[in-house]
Amino acid sequence: MRNTDRRPAPPSIREIRDGAWRESEDGAWRPGAPHIRNAWHLACFAHELDAGILARTLLDEPVVLFRRGDGRVAALEDRCPHVGAPLSRGKLVGANIQCGYHGLAFDADGRCVEIPGQEIIPPAACVHAYPIEVRAEHVWIWMGDPQLAASHAVPDFGGDDDFFRWPRHQGVIPMRCNYSLMIQNLMDLTHLAYVHADSIGGDAADHATDEVSVSRTETGMRFVRTMRNVAPPGRYVARFGSAERLDRWSEFEFVAPAVVRQNSGWGRVGTGVIEERGGDLKDKMLHAITPSTASSSFYFYDGADGAEPDPARAKQRLSVLDKIIQEDVDMVEAQQARLEGVDPRTLIAVRSDKARLLMMKELQRRVEAQAGD
Ligand code: FES
Ligand SMILES: [Fe+2]
Repeated sequence: MRNTDRRPAPPSIREIRDGAWRESEDGAWRPGAPHIRNAWHLACFAHELDAGILARTLLDEPVVLFRRGDGRVAALEDRCPHVGAPLSRGKLVGANIQCGYHGLAFDADGRCVEIPGQEIIPPAACVHAYPIEVRAEHVWIWMGDPQLAASHAVPDFGGDDDFFRWPRHQGVIPMRCNYSLMIQNLMDLTHLAYVHADSIGGDAADHATDEVSVSRTETGMRFVRTMRNVAPPGRYVARFGSAERLDRWSEFEFVAPAVVRQNSGWGRVGTGVIEERGGDLKDKMLHAITPSTASSSFYFYDGADGAEPDPARAKQRLSVLDKIIQEDVDMVEAQQARLEGVDPRTLIAVRSDKARLLMMKELQRRVEAQAGD
């Protein structure tokens, strides 16, 4: 790839601790964590490009996404090198994107291919082209040094055919919160009893006595959570019409910096559901939380239903995810607003924070490594 990287460097003086960060010693505390640029982030679902050009601010950079002539996905810096208009205000002309201000056209590699009324195209007439990897409907973008992209695996459900075979339901919600606050939400499932009381919550006392084992992985960390002989949550009762008590298990894998892969199952007590990772109800879910700015992000979710063979019925059942995720978003946005400027050392940790704290430690390690690059 040609060196078209003329993007401004991100701020480098950073302190991060206990789930908050600041630019300098005396700067204001910001909730969450700074972005990690050298990583794959989810940019969009492929179907979002069916309507044409998609503009999105990702990791503080304006990006325009579109399909090239051959159907592959292109992502360019959304700032024309002429006088800086957003290319996303232009249009697709053949395989190129034409700026809507004075008509300069760029190919999918960011190279200027036309300047109206001018023969010679100077080498500086280019925009940054981001590396892209598409896996099924997931469009992954590399915001950091393009040279490093190939050496990192895409944090999808690689090798897990079930996920891609099962009926799925997807959504994206723009949020007013730092990405890591939502990752933290996914690391402490005791919130289910309160935030999702009507759908997947069940009995609060059951959640408080869960068993959680936490471990590091090469790409982040994971936890396994089990609950035995617990009250069925509303979603289970609605589906099976049974109020029998259940065993539940969940595996959550954090793939740093901003992806969580979820695998969970629920079934009748004593039927080996936990040991066999089975269940009457089985879900796999991809949660990709892509930073937009320091205090906003996109929540991409893609849930797969392993218990309902009928795709139409599964899709309809999975649509409950929209409501469930929105409940998380409402809470975490409120948390973000309350935490702006707050010194993290004034907050406390409790028993259920075990996985969350290990996740933040992993993230902090990566933020510090990035600062030292
Ligand atoms: S700003 Fe794009 S052509 Fe002038
Ligand atoms: Fe939640």
